[in-house]
Amino acid sequence: MKLLLLLSLVAFSLVETKYLVCYFSSWATYRPDAGKFTIEDNDPDLCTHLVYAFAGLGWNNEIRVLDPYNDLCENYGKCGYNRFTNLTLQNPNLKTTLGVGGWNEGSTKYSEMAADPAKRKTFVDSSIKLLKEHNFDGLDMDWEYPTQRGGKPEDYVNYISLMKELYEALHAEGMILTAAVSAGKATIDPAYNIPELSKYIDILHLMTYDLHGSWEPYTHHHSLLYPHPEDTGDNLYLNQDFAVNYWIEKGAPKDKLVMGIPLYGRTFRLKNDQDTGIYAEAPGPGGAGPYTREAGFMGYNEICEFQAKEPWTVVHDPALNEPYAYYIPNNNFWVGYEDVDSVGVKAQYTLDQGIAGAMVWSVETDDFHGTCHGSPFPLLHKIKATLGN
Ligand SMILES: *[C@@H]1O[C@H](CO)[C@@H](O)[C@H](O)[C@H]1NC(C)=O
Repeated sequence: MKLLLLLSLVAFSLVETKYLVCYFSSWATYRPDAGKFTIEDNDPDLCTHLVYAFAGLGWNNEIRVLDPYNDLCENYGKCGYNRFTNLTLQNPNLKTTLGVGGWNEGSTKYSEMAADPAKRKTFVDSSIKLLKEHNFDGLDMDWEYPTQRGGKPEDYVNYISLMKELYEALHAEGMILTAAVSAGKATIDPAYNIPELSKYIDILHLMTYDLHGSWEPYTHHHSLLYPHPEDTGDNLYLNQDFAVNYWIEKGAPKDKLVMGIPLYGRTFRLKNDQDTGIYAEAPGPGGAGPYTREAGFMGYNEICEFQAKEPWTVVHDPALNEPYAYYIPNNNFWVGYEDVDSVGVKAQYTLDQGIAGAMVWSVETDDFHGTCHGSPFPLLHKIKATLGN
């Protein structure tokens, strides 16, 4: 009898669906040529949760629609929110949420709103109203970050009050609350009361990427799973394994934690064409990609299309689980990124750790046309298959 019970428990845990939380950058509809990605380019069967990035916060403390023309139907708009939540008509198990915040929103307004109970109520009430109007299944709080970037020390306490009030109001309406949270120890320590936050959250999206980049004077991989052999000092904290274990050690429940995997690379311009490894001197970012058009950043679709056209050197350093590549004729360009193998290793890591699954930033920089791989979304398919969904 005991054995039967044990066997059925094992069988049950084997069929349990892992979370695959996918961010969607709504502004990708403005990208040129093959980089343009609209709502209907999403595959509603790949992810368990799709997050619409982003809404913002108004000075009146209400949630704010950032691009009314693209997001809303009014005034001959493109109905982005409604088309997005309508993706659940194709997959009733899919949850769609609205992300509020993001890097560009900064922290100051959020800090002021969270400090005042009346302002928090305005934000919570306006959020519920907007989510219901557009059939979202919940809210994803992307305040980057409490206590940082214009925030104040009291955010540590006020953020929890905000999340508690949001969680209770959302759950009363049958909706969920998730949050994108930092993977950097230097931010985690001042920003998050992890045991309290864990009570008022459905899923914690660990942003285990952008751990290095062209703001530093040397090349490094921005989403490495384990430390590089040459890492010392605080750089020993800047890897995915550290961040996952640190969140768990500080009290995050494994069944609410998902690890972020970037579908993009961070780029550099090498100083010296003979010095091309990790910790090579790099005085600045690599040039902008044709679709994402931002120096220092390149989508996997752009990276793989470049590699198909030009003789890039792709390096699989045995000390790393993820590739980097460089091409000297393109102004000493260097990029650390993820490929099909590395995202598989990372999805497997989430299984081995027993956490709730994976998150990606973001769907529209996968090879979504299948230009390089012959079939669309090779990275997302690999993650989904590895998670066993
Ligand atoms: C969403 O689906 C509903 C039900 O089929 C439909 O009436 C509505 O027009 C759709 N909205 C958009 C913006 O496509």
